[in-house]
Amino acid sequence: MANVLFIKANGLPAERSVSVKLYEEFLKNYTASNAGDTITELDLFQADLPYYDATMMSGLYKESIGETLTQDEARLAKVANSYLEQFLAADKVVMAFPLWNFSIPAQFLTYLFYLNQAGKTFKYTSEGPVGLVTNKEVVLLNARGGVYSDGPMANWEMSLNYVKNILTHFGITNPQTVIVEGHNAAPDQAQDLIAAGVEKAAALANKF
Ligand SMILES: Cc1cc2nc3c(=O)[nH]c(=O)nc-3n(C[C@H](O)[C@H](O)[C@H](O)COP(=O)(O)O)c2cc1C
Repeated sequence: MANVLFIKANGLPAERSVSVKLYEEFLKNYTASNAGDTITELDLFQADLPYYDATMMSGLYKESIGETLTQDEARLAKVANSYLEQFLAADKVVMAFPLWNFSIPAQFLTYLFYLNQAGKTFKYTSEGPVGLVTNKEVVLLNARGGVYSDGPMANWEMSLNYVKNILTHFGITNPQTVIVEGHNAAPDQAQDLIAAGVEKAAALANKF
């Protein structure tokens, strides 16, 4: 029985969000196909996600070298570490997120910063950083209104590429993806593009 973490990085309702549509369809199908699994939903737009600020950084650093933390440092280090531990404890992780301003929502970036800890998700070596997370299967559900998979905007895609690069840095090199793109660029095709993505999300959920 797997421990599965579903991360939603969009606060809009499904009627107004393609990535949330993908998320809900995936969750519904996964739950139906895997009744015995433990499923945890993390809604990053409802979660307590203080900025990765100097106090949090100082707390995490002091902790790593065994120094005493102030009360505020300890509180903030605990926030980051609790999300990190939840991520590390999952056998499978599903992340749903939009491309906004060519990138990801700030809440998701903050969350990924919490996970990015030397000695926990990666380590430094003389050959460069090496990922430490090798026991996890990941699905990425991404929506972007323009076309980025090829063509002139390909280099501007810093949403899915960013998340994939961070996961590679952690040692997770083979996430599966469902991408809906181009629905704003071609409104006449939007319904079909979204429906095809939702269908792919359902199919992937049933075999993930
Ligand atoms: C704040 C915001 C910024 C956006 N920035 C871009 C952008 O840079 N490029 C683009 O192609 N689409 C952009 N879009 C359109 C989204 O990529 C599109 O709505 C996509 O469906 C986002 O996922 P969602 O529907 O789950 O929110 C933006 C939308 C919003 C709300």
